[in-house]
Amino acid sequence: MEPQLTVNGLDRALGDVGGHVTLLDWLRADGLTGCKEGCAEGECGACAVLVNRPEADGRSRWIAINACLVPAAGFEGQEVLTAEGFGTVDALHPVQQEMADRGGSQCGYCTPGFICSMVGEYYRPDREATGQTVRAAEAEPDTDGAAADRRAGNGHVDPVAPGQAPDHEHGFNGFDLHALSGNLCRCTGYRPIKDAAYALGEPDIDDPFRARCEQPAPAAAPTRISSSEGDYVRPLELTEALDLLAENPDARLLAGSTDWGVELNIRHARARLTIGLDRLEELRVLAVGDTLIDLGAALTLTEIERGLAGTVPLLAEVFPQFASRLIRNGATLGGNLGTASPIGDTTPALLALDASLILASRHGEREVKLSEYFTGYRQSVKQPIELIKIIRIPTPVAPFSAFHKIAKRRFDDISSVAVAYALDLDGDSVKSIKIGLGGVAATPLRATAVEEFLAGKAWNRDTVREAAIMLGLQGTPLNDHRASANYRAAMLRTSLLKFFAANPVARTEVSA
Ligand SMILES: Cc1cc2nc3c(=O)[nH]c(=O)nc-3n(C[C@H](O)[C@H](O)[C@H](O)COP(=O)(O)OP(=O)(O)OC[C@H]3O[C@@H](n4cnc5c(N)ncnc54)[C@H](O)[C@@H]3O)c2cc1C
Ligand code: FES
Ligand code: FES
Repeated sequence: MEPQLTVNGLDRALGDVGGHVTLLDWLRADGLTGCKEGCAEGECGACAVLVNRPEADGRSRWIAINACLVPAAGFEGQEVLTAEGFGTVDALHPVQQEMADRGGSQCGYCTPGFICSMVGEYYRPDREATGQTVRAAEAEPDTDGAAADRRAGNGHVDPVAPGQAPDHEHGFNGFDLHALSGNLCRCTGYRPIKDAAYALGEPDIDDPFRARCEQPAPAAAPTRISSSEGDYVRPLELTEALDLLAENPDARLLAGSTDWGVELNIRHARARLTIGLDRLEELRVLAVGDTLIDLGAALTLTEIERGLAGTVPLLAEVFPQFASRLIRNGATLGGNLGTASPIGDTTPALLALDASLILASRHGEREVKLSEYFTGYRQSVKQPIELIKIIRIPTPVAPFSAFHKIAKRRFDDISSVAVAYALDLDGDSVKSIKIGLGGVAATPLRATAVEEFLAGKAWNRDTVREAAIMLGLQGTPLNDHRASANYRAAMLRTSLLKFFAANPVARTEVSA
């Protein structure tokens, strides 16, 4: 049968897309021009669409992703929703209605992308309202009777309704504003968009998109689609993927495609063969044991964040600082480590957690300490016929930890420097400390000299000041467009002082 996928409830043939036609280009060529190209590199969210993905309990959920980054071929057999699929002009979807009523759109270029991200959050099963669900007509002066009437049937939440005060990044309706962190708007301004998000109620019980989530997501389809520019293959079993890789060591492995999509669009990179790993069950394990935590290399960061639910506080601190929700809905640990980038954000944290990688090939598996994995700029001990299967973290994790990402923007930016700490104290002394560094050398580093200096010493301001000077000398930081070498060294020094200042034990210490 010809490869196809379902978009807005209709089956459509994929055609000979190979590995290089993005889902965005494919949708637009098919007439669905609601999703837009703003940047083609995952930065603006104008291309956001929703895809139905499996939940652990057998149900499914709508996940918003950047269509500009992912190959269309990876969606064979899948269900995709675009902004055209939610409502009609006469019967808008509640999210569209709130955006319209609250003035959330002006030129409209970004709006379909915002709508998709917002719809994903609207249906998030664990979104819990902390405010009162009120009928708009009762809650507000009826300045727009028609709008209030429309909203009245939508379990609408008044954004100023009394209730338990949420933090400033969540609405009373439980809406997490970070769901929109990957969407940019250049003319409306964000306040009306935020108002619309915080005004959303609960989906009706008979809402078809909510009802869809009660059913399983489409299973991954074994895919092989060729084109003149290169082939896309999705194996369904690890052994099949490893055989394919052994026979094609130059093949491009693909998980969330958030790195590869940029290579494809901006640098026009092409691979003869692309192997989709993102639905391989063997790479999607999340197991928390007494002595180990295993994280499958193809789990998305959002899935890990949800699955660990704070079990590893250091990782919990990394996730919100990693790109945007749209990117984290696709990005994987395997992809972050697979590039062996010196500025990948998860690497310093995984170094501080003393993680290992399980590398798999047709010839078997081996475990490599992450601290011994990197061999040079974007190089590692991983052989071309190997892939990363599991990221393994020893437990219990150290009780004190922190992740400091120094970047030009607070969110959705690449690190200039990243530092991660995992500290264990014995009374007032350092039992052990592990420090992972990114952005200060050709590879991510462990600051072993500083770790050894601190081990066994009193955890007080004087020792930490001395250690901070040592930390500032680690690596071989560069001057580049993100930061100067001096700035990077200064950030290392102040980072350790900040970690000390934030540490509860440290606050009891008094320095002369
Ligand atoms: C807008 C934007 C913002 C970003 N922000 C950040 C950020 O804040 N911090 C950060 O660290 N990164 C950031 N990135 C980079 C990217 O999102 C991450 O590196 C991500 O973890 C890559 O995962 P992926 O699954 O999408 O990788 P993919 O693009 O699928 O793959 C990346 C590379 O890894 C290899 N690979 C993938 N899986 C495996 C595997 N299992 N075994 C071996 N090799 C594998 C592939 O061969 C490929 O070359 C950003 C990217 C974008 C587009
Ligand atoms: S077009 Fe900008 S994120 Fe996709
Ligand atoms: S409405 Fe114009 S860019 Fe957002």
